[in-house]
Amino acid sequence: MSHIDLEKYSKYSKPGPRYTSYPTALEFSEDFPYENYLKYLDEGKEKLSLYVHLPFCRSACYFCGCNVVFTSKEEKLSRYVEYLKREIDILAGHLDTSREVIQFHFGGGTPTFYKAFELDEIINYIKSKFPNWSSDAEISCEIDPRFFNEEQMQVFQKHGFNRISFGVQDFDPKVQQEIHRIQPYELTKAAVDLARRYGIKSINTDLIYGLPYQSFESFQKTLELAFSLNPDRLAIFNYAHVPWLKKTMRKFDETTLPAPDVKLQILQYTIDFFEGHGYRMVGMDHFAKPEDELFTAIEKGELHRNFQGYTTKGGANLIGIGLTSIGEGARYYAQNTKDMIRYEEAIDAGRLPFEKGVELHDDDKIRKAVIMELMANFAVDIPRVEEEFGIDFKVYFSDALQSLQEFVEGDLVTITDEKISVSPTGTLLIRNIAMPFDAYMAKYGGNKKSFSKTV
Ligand SMILES: C[S@@+](CC[C@H](N)C(=O)[O-])C[C@H]1O[C@@H](n2cnc3c(N)ncnc32)[C@H](O)[C@@H]1O
Repeated sequence: MSHIDLEKYSKYSKPGPRYTSYPTALEFSEDFPYENYLKYLDEGKEKLSLYVHLPFCRSACYFCGCNVVFTSKEEKLSRYVEYLKREIDILAGHLDTSREVIQFHFGGGTPTFYKAFELDEIINYIKSKFPNWSSDAEISCEIDPRFFNEEQMQVFQKHGFNRISFGVQDFDPKVQQEIHRIQPYELTKAAVDLARRYGIKSINTDLIYGLPYQSFESFQKTLELAFSLNPDRLAIFNYAHVPWLKKTMRKFDETTLPAPDVKLQILQYTIDFFEGHGYRMVGMDHFAKPEDELFTAIEKGELHRNFQGYTTKGGANLIGIGLTSIGEGARYYAQNTKDMIRYEEAIDAGRLPFEKGVELHDDDKIRKAVIMELMANFAVDIPRVEEEFGIDFKVYFSDALQSLQEFVEGDLVTITDEKISVSPTGTLLIRNIAMPFDAYMAKYGGNKKSFSKTV
């Protein structure tokens, strides 16, 4: 990418969704009845993607936007395993458990805060209730390298785990101190080496740009060190600063957060850096080696976006298990409660801990398809959308296309009869480019406390 005056794009730094779902989580509500959720589970025929949320963490990373529970009490952890098993029992009563499992993911929190035998117990239990696992299922876990040992790795190997995602965030000691996460390079490297020794073929590392005290120079060093680990994939997330939702983020002195033009400079450098080292960009914030299956998917237009980022396994019915987890089906999103007391009460009453969700109407489905295609492929195949949904794209989306004109004039987007294409510089602003297709945006437009900033 040649040198571009990025400062002029700072104006696009405004609240906007990350589109891990459409409609976004702000639209999930208790108006979506539990009975409808059960009906969708019961009627579902798609293959299954199981997500199990293990919410506990020993200590707070101040940047963290995830749903976590801090504890050091062993009994809380084991009590949760018992409830998880009961949740799985209830779930198994509501859907056809012979449906094929093509994806399994442990997310958190810190899943490896659990001991090896407990992880083994949870996986065994799930397999006993959902026995039909595809031989090429994607089986993965998020790992904090500070809590990871060989016994846990042996359990993962025994159960056929083939993907591991390590949380790194930043290697700079000052940044690590500020975010309350001291994680020396050697410790991360030892964790990656351990996973490799046990044959894990797909190793991902997560970094975040936009954290306190990060500078263009300091992040360059972080990228060098991340590259030296030779990960198969990397996620480079834009720090989502939402202090009105997450108390620990209020500990940051906001004047130490890098400004929007510095963040754009970092992002552009990151893209150049990884493309220069043989990686390719996948969707908004991911990079992978060219042999990665994500690229075959991009070429076929089959890359999909969901709560876990990007995947080749589209069309599966995502089932969320555990506190706060989110499920996704063809016509719904559903989220479990975030409150441990209510979680236990629901299960004690023989109900799933479902709390809210949203039913997708035809308009939501069309917009979801367009937004997800933009977020995954940086392009929209217009005839394909017209054929799938029976619409005249330019008529249906005349308002959105009108709003995109400023991006067209800025050479960030081109629109023909066949295709909307986002230019390499436009990819830096992909959330802004997707927003005109979002029918709910008008509702949140001016509200600073709706979403994190796009830049
Ligand atoms: C659910 S977290 C759990 C991973 C694991 N507990 C760890 O920290 O190593 C997954 C990833 O989300 C990203 N993340 C968390 N909070 C974020 C935020 N506020 N903005 C952007 N990315 C964030 C981090 O990169 C983190 O590794």
